[in-house]
Amino acid sequence: MKHEWSSKSTFILAAVGSAVGLGNIWKFPYITGEYGGGVFILAYLVCIALIGLPIMLAEIALGRRGKQSPVNTMTQLSLEAGGHPAWRILGWSGMLAGCLILSYYSVIAGEVLAYSFRASSGIFNHQTADGIKSILNSLVSEPEKLLAWHTIFMSITVLAVAKGVRGGIEKTVSFLMPALFIILVFLVFYAMNSGGFQQALDFMFTPDADKFFYARSELGQYLMDANGEKIFTWKPMMVALGHAFFTLSLGMGAIMMYGSYLNRHVSIGQMTLIIVSLDTVVALLAGLAIFPLVFVNDLNPAIGPGLIFETLPLAFGSMAGGTFIGTLFFTLLFFAALSSAISLIEPTIAWLIESKGMRRIKASVWTGVVIWFIGLATIFSMTGTTLGDIFESLFGDMELKAGIFNYTLFQIIDFLTASIMLPIGGLLISIFAGWVMEQDSTEREFSFHNRYIYPVWHVMVRYVSPLLVAMVFLNITGLF
Ligand code: TRP
Repeated sequence: MKHEWSSKSTFILAAVGSAVGLGNIWKFPYITGEYGGGVFILAYLVCIALIGLPIMLAEIALGRRGKQSPVNTMTQLSLEAGGHPAWRILGWSGMLAGCLILSYYSVIAGEVLAYSFRASSGIFNHQTADGIKSILNSLVSEPEKLLAWHTIFMSITVLAVAKGVRGGIEKTVSFLMPALFIILVFLVFYAMNSGGFQQALDFMFTPDADKFFYARSELGQYLMDANGEKIFTWKPMMVALGHAFFTLSLGMGAIMMYGSYLNRHVSIGQMTLIIVSLDTVVALLAGLAIFPLVFVNDLNPAIGPGLIFETLPLAFGSMAGGTFIGTLFFTLLFFAALSSAISLIEPTIAWLIESKGMRRIKASVWTGVVIWFIGLATIFSMTGTTLGDIFESLFGDMELKAGIFNYTLFQIIDFLTASIMLPIGGLLISIFAGWVMEQDSTEREFSFHNRYIYPVWHVMVRYVSPLLVAMVFLNITGLF
């Protein structure tokens, strides 16, 4: 049985539902804060335009031509083009990346759900910044609570995917996305009058290259080497590149999967433009809603993943009707996360159904259970347990303080997936679409709607996007 979206707009809703999620509202503001603001945003926007756009077109085109889960789509398309069957590995690594991302995504989405209940209880009313912080601590320092919320979120995700594409996904997104957008605009207006708006604009849109290229401590001071020189780092560039993939759901086959349910006659150029613009606008709005509150309350923009849980509740606690608006905001964010989670898990489920003959329900439950287990790693990370700590508790005192051992498992999984696996996946997708596939087959997907953009896309996907991604990676390994 072959599914197809019931209309063009349901595809848009589902793809926007996939793209818009915790990435825009939770992750984008905190990584922008950590990596110094302006230049980070600039780097991210450049990556969206030069890499995100062409690769999204490529994923939709490939998916629609292959009409199956990414593993089988890649197998079939490489067969058709006379390419090596090993291209299917792209589908495999995509499924792995999707499951790893969902493992921590679900923990954070669980926190969001917890916060919608907290907001509705009125607990944020008239709190000070310290009060809000201790409310957050009472959640993240208690693994049992996080575990409970993570379990709830994973169960809801499994239920939604088990119902299938039409039943589950389309219904959820069609009215929640617009509602989330409206409430974000409202929060931006609130932030405009908060007194910190100008500072937020400066922070977000004035590029300060030093903050981006030189390593800084958690307190924001530059780290120095033995000669008293600042230490150069490529990490922010990798994070910006990775986030461009993450926020657009690219590089692991989610959009390819959704493209496979898309009708032949729809213009993929138009679809891509709509998805990318909406996603970018939502991220920028989230920044404009959050950073003014950071500055007016003297918070540190670089506090990390807890940023939205510390700033927005302050605002909800002091505005008229804040209990209602706060509850609504976190509830909508929960649904935005759910529609993204569905797209992270769908490629694996579709593959289990197609190739292993499983029933949708069984495939959903099993995949959900595996991801739930991996999520435990993130839960233990929330109390600050690093990889070094874990090794020490297993093997005795080892003095593991350097490099990777300083990071939590959550940080490692996040960096590995978003900054490494997704860009490499995207690189391979663009090479496949630009070099392996016959020009005839890709051109057909662009059809008459997009005949003028096809040549531009072809150059982008052949040369520009892969070279840019490769350059970032070669730089890091010091080869370039
Ligand atoms: N784009 C989503 C967000 O910003 C997350 C997401 C959904 C995703 N599907 C994905 C990220 C596929 C990478 C790959 O929250």
